[in-house]
Amino acid sequence: MAHNFAKTVRDFLVMPQITVSDDMREKLLQCAKNVMKNAHAPYSNFRVGAAILTASGDIFSGCNVENASYGMTNCAERTAIFSAVAQLGPKIEIRAVAVANDKGAPCAPCGACRQVIYEFGPDAVIFFHGSNGPRHAHITELLPEGFRLQ
Ligand code: THU
Repeated sequence: MAHNFAKTVRDFLVMPQITVSDDMREKLLQCAKNVMKNAHAPYSNFRVGAAILTASGDIFSGCNVENASYGMTNCAERTAIFSAVAQLGPKIEIRAVAVANDKGAPCAPCGACRQVIYEFGPDAVIFFHGSNGPRHAHITELLPEGFRLQ
């Protein structure tokens, strides 16, 4: 009982404050699917697209860009976020992130991308394919105790 109460308070305090309409979610997922075609994925043959919604209402998309030196690969999520920063500057606030892939496979953002999402969207909601189908999660659910300087 005490545990449930604590969880309820925690959910109230830190879980998603942001609501994204069904229409917007579908729009973001469609943008993510559209950009998959631009992926450079000759090594994994796994094409990923991501779209982010900023507080200003702008949508940016990105695909994965692989490299012969595998570790230099940039995930779709980071491509979209870096594109947004390049366009709008570092004050962007990410409201939502949608991720799609060409295999319909479970594909949550990797650990590195979670940290980058958290940098610009500590209250962001993420839409992705989970192991049991489409799902959404608050960034702090995917990345508890995200790192922040200050
Ligand atoms: N990848 C992404 O772009 N986003 C994810 O959320 C998971 C993985 C990419 C990285 C690499 O190009 C390929 O998928 C296989 O790991």
